[in-house]
Amino acid sequence: MISFEISQEQKQIMELACKFTKNEIIPVAAEYDTKAEMPWPIIKKAFEIGLWNLNIPEEYGGPGLDQVSEILIYEELAYGCLGIFGSFAGNSLALTPLLIAGTDQQKKKFLEPFSEKPKLAAFALTEPNAGSDASNVSTTAKKDSNGYILNGTKCFITHGGIANLYTVFASTDRSKGIKGLSAFLVPGDTPGLTMGKKEDKMGDRASHIGEVILENVRVPLDNLLGREGEGFKIAMKTLDITRPTIAAGAVGVARRALDEAKNYAKERIQFGKPIADQQAIQFMLADMAMEIMSSRALVWQAAAKIEKGEPDTMLSAAAKCKASDTAMKVTIDALQVFGGYGYMKEYPMEKLMRDAKITQIYEGTNQIQRIVIASQLLK
Ligand code: CAA
Repeated sequence: MISFEISQEQKQIMELACKFTKNEIIPVAAEYDTKAEMPWPIIKKAFEIGLWNLNIPEEYGGPGLDQVSEILIYEELAYGCLGIFGSFAGNSLALTPLLIAGTDQQKKKFLEPFSEKPKLAAFALTEPNAGSDASNVSTTAKKDSNGYILNGTKCFITHGGIANLYTVFASTDRSKGIKGLSAFLVPGDTPGLTMGKKEDKMGDRASHIGEVILENVRVPLDNLLGREGEGFKIAMKTLDITRPTIAAGAVGVARRALDEAKNYAKERIQFGKPIADQQAIQFMLADMAMEIMSSRALVWQAAAKIEKGEPDTMLSAAAKCKASDTAMKVTIDALQVFGGYGYMKEYPMEKLMRDAKITQIYEGTNQIQRIVIASQLLK
């Protein structure tokens, strides 16, 4: 049996995140979207009240939250702004390989500084020719007696070029293909690591996405995560844990769009009465609500499995796919409820629709999620 009751503690943390979103994120979301800037003041405030680096365990100075609490917080943050949520989720994604495969010594060394002040981490897997085909990484890591020398270019990296710590996936033996990929911890100030192009995005604009260039970047042997050749599996296990985070963000966006559409429909008078009195609008709102409820149920289920120590590849992919398709559909329909006003920048709908699109793409396109689901089904 699965209980969908959340504990008193989880309720409190959700309320804290909801208040934080209302007071700190919603009032400035449009401004960050226009300027496409990193939300530093928000990150600092979140850090002060324990809403930053949600996945760092208490023993390394972090909040040590359970997975369901994390999901509840992420939904609230994305309700305020998906781009601002992106920074929180980007850090969580980048630190997950360390949590999965790091030794106690590595965790102490690399996680504790994140608990001392707000810092950025970046998950550097994607390359120009290794997007959906994540195994096709051409970044190399050559071993010598002192450590590894990394060379290559990573693209579409959250916090790329501005992070304090990178989890870099590189090939230690190209002849072995997937089994030659390895994961490395690379401090942001390592000589040879530089920022390439900062991306100018359609939506999700408050999160920084950039290219990372690695030119003879030298790291000690101790910075290898797990063993040589385990990189691909570490990356996949990471995504099993983090895809529900993206899904929670997508639910937040969809919920916000429904709330905006609901409120507008009650106020907008046409044909002498609020458009909410029209069954055509009511059906649209009802469909949106159903999609959101079913998406959230999947997200919670995926999070509960992770919390139990049993991340479920199919469930995580299904949650990400379903919730992001929901975010896209709901934002399109909610904008339709606004009619012409929805299309104007003065109203929040066009931003929500632009933001929703990325949730169907990042952390694996929804076509990849369907491949993952089908391959688990047919196993
Ligand atoms: N857990 C553990 N092991 C796994 C696994 C998982 N979830 N998935 C695959 N593996 C293992 C397999 O068991 C297999 O190992 P063996 O050979 O020992 O059996 C090995 O990995 C290879 O598996 P596949 O044959 O399934 O690999 P594939 O090449 O066919 O690719 C894929 C699988 C699902 C398509 C994968 O490449 C994928 O997920 N691609 C999408 C990548 C992605 O999501 N990128 C997002 C980057 S992060 C981002 O977007 C955020 C940002 O910063 C903007």
